[in-house]
Amino acid sequence: MNILLLGSGGREHALAWKMKQSLLCEQLYIAPGNAGTAECGINIPLRIDGDFESMEKFCRKENIHLIVVGPEDPLVKGVYDYFKTAHQQNSFGDNWLGVIGPSAAAAQLEGSKAFAKTFMQKRNIPTAAYREFTSETVEEAKKYIAAHALPVVLKADGLAAGKGVIIAQTHEEALSEIEQMLTHAKFGAASAKVVVEAFLSGIELSVFVLTDGKDYVLLPEAKDYKRIGEGDTGLNTGGMGAVSPVPFADAAFMRKVEERIIRPTIRGLKEDGLEYKGFIFFGLIKVGEDPYVIEYNCRMGDPETEVVMPRLKTDLLLLLEALSKGELKKTEIEQDPRSAVTIMAVSGGYPGDYKKGLPMKIRVPVHPDTMLFHAGTRAEGDEIVTNGGRVITVTSFGDSIKEAAQKSVDTLSGIAFEGMYFRRDIGYEF
Ligand code: AMP
Ligand code: GLY
Repeated sequence: MNILLLGSGGREHALAWKMKQSLLCEQLYIAPGNAGTAECGINIPLRIDGDFESMEKFCRKENIHLIVVGPEDPLVKGVYDYFKTAHQQNSFGDNWLGVIGPSAAAAQLEGSKAFAKTFMQKRNIPTAAYREFTSETVEEAKKYIAAHALPVVLKADGLAAGKGVIIAQTHEEALSEIEQMLTHAKFGAASAKVVVEAFLSGIELSVFVLTDGKDYVLLPEAKDYKRIGEGDTGLNTGGMGAVSPVPFADAAFMRKVEERIIRPTIRGLKEDGLEYKGFIFFGLIKVGEDPYVIEYNCRMGDPETEVVMPRLKTDLLLLLEALSKGELKKTEIEQDPRSAVTIMAVSGGYPGDYKKGLPMKIRVPVHPDTMLFHAGTRAEGDEIVTNGGRVITVTSFGDSIKEAAQKSVDTLSGIAFEGMYFRRDIGYEF
């Protein structure tokens, strides 16, 4: 099978690493990739942000059978639909498996918070109580907020690069924010609509499934650590580390997740005619003993993928092939029972301003329980330099989360670049 993987982060390196191990893998291309994905396949400088014609040309030329999409942006922009139509008009051949991901309509589960809320409400999927507002209903929004319990959560409807959520501790802050979002386009078109919702207090986790639109398989769950500082303090980031499995996601809890959230979601997609052949990421929060949905994402998480893929023992390409053919029901998932912990090394200044192009020293771990996944890196001649805020992550296995985390911390002593920082407390509460 020839595969084109879209994206350039740690998630994509982990996906490439996993697919490369499959006997089904012939050629693996990554667009645009990073210095790590170049060890698993061939990096291709294709634009993935909407120029699907160039991508199609590439796929025809290289006889690609499967496109795997890392980030949400191409999915929300309709990469699934584009290739479906292209195949109908001019077949990619008998072995074409298509794009792993949702249609643009189904990607709205991530692309529009209001869409996701309506979808959940229709099926009684547990989520925070909410209302949605636009610039036409600012005054109503203000009244609603003034009477709302604190803290109150404001969410820009559209994609806002992870910045569109405000948790306001006072009514003054919430009122000023809603004005900024609705009237002054604080997040551009993304905040033309805003969801105002109740704050849920609990502990978060990420649950992943692969679905062919009828059936699903459950992948290992994970918990990510979003704050820059130890003890979960400071600014939000894309993710500073992750652990899997999540100790509090026991069988009883996961049964509730499947019954109350996953199954009604898959059923809902089918009922609403929303085509979905890919990963669903359920961002959940455990309140008391019960799971609630904070958000849906139409892709895998980053850095969660860097612990989920190592713990997935099943051949990923076998799963994706079955998914494409609508035969996911025939597959089974095997998980590594050990704990996996990933710790992300970031550039000094991140998540604020940071330098790029810093030379890196990387001592490659020899122990099979530890692996490196590149995030923001790039090859420059024989050298590897930094190319982003989140630079490289170290995943280790252990008999406990503590043991795995310690191995990753130890391995990070073999990595160096100017201003490098990482959290030493990933998994601290377990
Ligand atoms: P989102 O972009 O929806 O993932 O929101 C970003 C983060 O804000 C989440 O990971 C949560 O930590 C937090 N958050 C979002 N909605 C809520 C809520 N209703 N209650 C508590 N925390 C929330
Ligand atoms: N780690 C959270 C995300 O990928 O959105």
